[in-house]
Amino acid sequence: MCGIVGYLGFRNATEILINGLKRLEYRGYDSAGIALILDNKLKIYKCKGKVADLENLIKYKNTISTIGIGHTRWATHGEPNDINAHPHQSMKGYFSIIHNGIIENYIELRTFLQEKDYKFIGETDTEILANFFEYVYLKNKTSNENYSPEDAIRACLQKVDGAYGLVILCKDTPNQLIAARKSSPLVIGSAKKEYFIASDASCLVEYTDRVIYLDDNDIAIINNRGLTITDLENNVHNPIFDKIEVKLEEIEKAGFDHYMLKEIFEQPTSIHNTFRGRLNLKDKSITLGGLQEIFPELVKAKRIIIIACGTSWHAGLVGEYLFEELARIPTEVEYASEFRYRNPIIFEDDIILAISQSGETADTLAAIKLAKKSGAKVIGICNVVGSSIARETIAGVYTHAGAEIGVASTKAFTSQITILTMMALSIGLSKKTISKEQFDDILIGISEVPNKIEEFFKTQTDNIKEISEKIYNKKNSIYLGRGYLYPVAMEGALKLKEISYIHAEGYPAAEMKHGPIALIDEEMPVVVIAPKENSYDKIVSNIQEVKARHGIIIAIVTKGEKNLKNVADYIIEIPETEAQLLPLISVIPLQLLAYYIATKLGKNVDQPRNLAKSVTVE
Ligand code: M6R
Repeated sequence: MCGIVGYLGFRNATEILINGLKRLEYRGYDSAGIALILDNKLKIYKCKGKVADLENLIKYKNTISTIGIGHTRWATHGEPNDINAHPHQSMKGYFSIIHNGIIENYIELRTFLQEKDYKFIGETDTEILANFFEYVYLKNKTSNENYSPEDAIRACLQKVDGAYGLVILCKDTPNQLIAARKSSPLVIGSAKKEYFIASDASCLVEYTDRVIYLDDNDIAIINNRGLTITDLENNVHNPIFDKIEVKLEEIEKAGFDHYMLKEIFEQPTSIHNTFRGRLNLKDKSITLGGLQEIFPELVKAKRIIIIACGTSWHAGLVGEYLFEELARIPTEVEYASEFRYRNPIIFEDDIILAISQSGETADTLAAIKLAKKSGAKVIGICNVVGSSIARETIAGVYTHAGAEIGVASTKAFTSQITILTMMALSIGLSKKTISKEQFDDILIGISEVPNKIEEFFKTQTDNIKEISEKIYNKKNSIYLGRGYLYPVAMEGALKLKEISYIHAEGYPAAEMKHGPIALIDEEMPVVVIAPKENSYDKIVSNIQEVKARHGIIIAIVTKGEKNLKNVADYIIEIPETEAQLLPLISVIPLQLLAYYIATKLGKNVDQPRNLAKSVTVE
């Protein structure tokens, strides 16, 4: 949440900041701003709206500088408006800062500063922090002329509770950027005589592939002498350089109208990338390198607890079915935000599995930290390489789905499920809870999924678009599935609500008669996932129950299925596959349906209202 960029070098900082903010806009898009050093003075431009509005604002202004910071906001404290937009400047004009996170003790700090005659113009926690830096800096500077802005920042941050990714400019050190991190991501990119700071490495790929991921409590000082990283006690740390894996083409739209559409259509490739090098068709084996050391403990595990949020939580639910069926390990799936606050019971031989696309979700990160405190072994499935969750877990697997920029998660979901299936198969084979024959069948099935999805796109995309044109104006929707497809039904409903703002609910199909059936009338679309491999007869009965109440039935069926043709109002055909692999294929029509409904309604699917891609606040 909130995108942060900083630059120090020899090029026009404004161009780099605006370009970076455009790339990071998926993290928050209610206001944007930049701060520059111009003629040794701090200059701020900011406004409510998108980065394009900021570009308009600065069009004819002097913005040529080689140092600056930029921010695109997802509001926490204070409504989105020009004043609450970042960067924030301290009252006497010494500091300008951008911030991603939440300062929890902001009331205490504000009261302290008000007693010192500080006045505030906006409602943000960030403005308080800028003033806190200034107060401590000026107070100490009078008695010690060597006291530096970074000394003040270190002293202040020791007194700050909460989460922050910060980049700071001080007018007394006009050729210096200071960055600080605690629980909100920050990465520094380095090139010849240039430094970049960002909340996400993907926006740096066009400038450099050498990056340093800051750790909690790190403070980075970047100036003409280079880069120094210290902790809050001023101990110097050696920077550890990583290589960015993301390619520039991954973060472009490549001719698609939206990132979401591009990412939906990328799934044959992203799923293939997830199993490539891990699934060996020749000798019918699976190797998950990142889990090798922990694998014996996984096999012995008495229980797996999966923690995640949103779409990753839905993938976790599919994981529950997979681990229980194939590996016979009791599995619980927890919302990370609930797990964290209910004093969970964790045993020594439990394995905690965190799932996250971004690897930065604050609730999941906090749940991991709690689980680690109680001695649990926490492993992860993440998409973003080098992310906080990837680094907090003792072992794990990257999904390699490629950069996912659309706020609605699509390809990350199918890649997460691909990993979960490979994990369950490997454990199951080792425990002998599945036969080698079943293992081989599902393994071959996984390898065929990309081609099956390609085929599905060719034959069904237009059909789904036409269906969306028939139902886009309905106010509600119900999604039904059984077994492996119940989480998929919930995922389909989440996709629709988050990008079209139509109310939608996903249910286990048989639960419908225990309440939701009361909602069904001729205005209610009911999307039923009903392939023949999955409790087919039972779900046909559920469809009949909807039909009897005149609901609009959209049935997702196995290719060639004839029985439902006269019952359902609309049919979407999916290719046949193993029951355990149905989530990988059956979610695709639901993603497309949500996409076409939302675009028909004229919604901004890549940047839906009130949302942000990585939710880095609890
Ligand atoms: O990055 P994560 O997978 O941890 O994100 C979790 C959720 O915030 C995310 O899946 C969210 O629900 C998406 N907007 C769903 O499309």
